[in-house]
Amino acid sequence: MEHGISRIGVVGGGLMGSGIAALAVYRGIAVTVREETPELADRAYHAIEKVFGDLLQKGKIDNLTYLQCMGLLEVTTDMRDLRGANLAVEAVSERLDIKEKIFAELDALLAPNAIIASNTSSLPIAQLAAATARPDRVLGMHFFNPPIRMDLVELVRGAETSKITMSIAEAFCREQLQRQTIRVTDRPGFIVNRLLIPYFNEAALAIELYDVDPHQIDAEAKAYGWPMGPFELLDFVGIDTTLWIAEFLNESCANRFFVPPLYRLLAEQGRMGARKTGTGFYTYPSRDSQHLEALLAKRYPHRNERMDAKHVFDRMMCALYVQAIEALEEEAASAADIELGAKNGIAFPGIGPLHAIDAMGHGKLLWMLRDMERTYGPRFAPPELLKRHSACEAPFFSE
Ligand code: 3HC
Repeated sequence: MEHGISRIGVVGGGLMGSGIAALAVYRGIAVTVREETPELADRAYHAIEKVFGDLLQKGKIDNLTYLQCMGLLEVTTDMRDLRGANLAVEAVSERLDIKEKIFAELDALLAPNAIIASNTSSLPIAQLAAATARPDRVLGMHFFNPPIRMDLVELVRGAETSKITMSIAEAFCREQLQRQTIRVTDRPGFIVNRLLIPYFNEAALAIELYDVDPHQIDAEAKAYGWPMGPFELLDFVGIDTTLWIAEFLNESCANRFFVPPLYRLLAEQGRMGARKTGTGFYTYPSRDSQHLEALLAKRYPHRNERMDAKHVFDRMMCALYVQAIEALEEEAASAADIELGAKNGIAFPGIGPLHAIDAMGHGKLLWMLRDMERTYGPRFAPPELLKRHSACEAPFFSE
């Protein structure tokens, strides 16, 4: 693979699979997307076509580029069409058994030196690698929605992933896909979802428990500098995806994570988010919250206590800060990679959460967390690292 990766296979053409395929063909790489049924293959093809159609309409690409991109794309229902790929990226739904089966199939099909990656947002890479006879050539490549816009890939090193595999994947993402990368350990939620999900959870819990307008919470987040409010972003990511990751994190560490029942309630009603079903927390395209309000009034009739949207937003940010500090404490990634992950993966405003904590003062965060721990429970317990830094007034970054 001296001259880079010439053809990739993408297994699964849903929201993320089609997005990854669009990014790859945009960068001149031939892509074969494999879907289960002709209907799903058709849907994947049209989703990718829409990405380039939108870019064309906005004047960001010309007709020739449109044709070149679409010309590099092949969509199939036959796994054997992936045979010539140097790299396969699996992007199917987050079920370990389904993914393991696909990994075994790819392992039997691809050349011995080909790399197999998973776009899983949380599942252990080591377990997927164990389904193959090439665990050294398996890693996590976690993209962000929408891949064509979000400048980040989390590279997850499983217990047996080789250094050379990490280097090839890094070079592919940086040089060919032109994406920033961070290296993260194989821990639940890696870095970015570990920060994002607790932030989402506080927002969802607040509207279940209190009389507070979701639009106001979104407005607080946007006033702080986030490009989308939490409910807009939840609808963008998808409720089913968020529910799954929240459940997985909760199983891994119930003291810090929980699953707001509202995710399940929305999912059961088929409200999977803006792009998946046109409804989620809000109803699109008007982005109104009438249905949500009616649902909340019916299911949670006792939410009379008013809650200030600014305080909800502080809770969301504190939940994210706790995870940023604990990730650093556990060496889940370097401090610089935690910052880059937050900034480029979820458009965290400013440099990153650890810089934000340095700027607000460790003592102030410690005080806020102690107060929230007393009021809302142990998920806000201050991490030991914060206590140590606060005691000696040492910032995370000293430049
Ligand atoms: N509320 C809701 N939707 C919005 C929005 C808002 N405030 N702003 C933009 N959008 C939607 C648009 O409707 C459009 O959707 P479509 O493609 O379905 O039509 C899409 O975003 C693109 O919009 P634009 O082309 O107008 O682009 P912008 O210049 O507004 O930027 C953005 C869009 C780059 C997506 C920017 O808003 C952003 O950075 N948002 C944060 C996205 C993010 O954090 N992604 C990561 C999610 S986590 C993840 O993917 C990991 C997974 O494992 C969960």
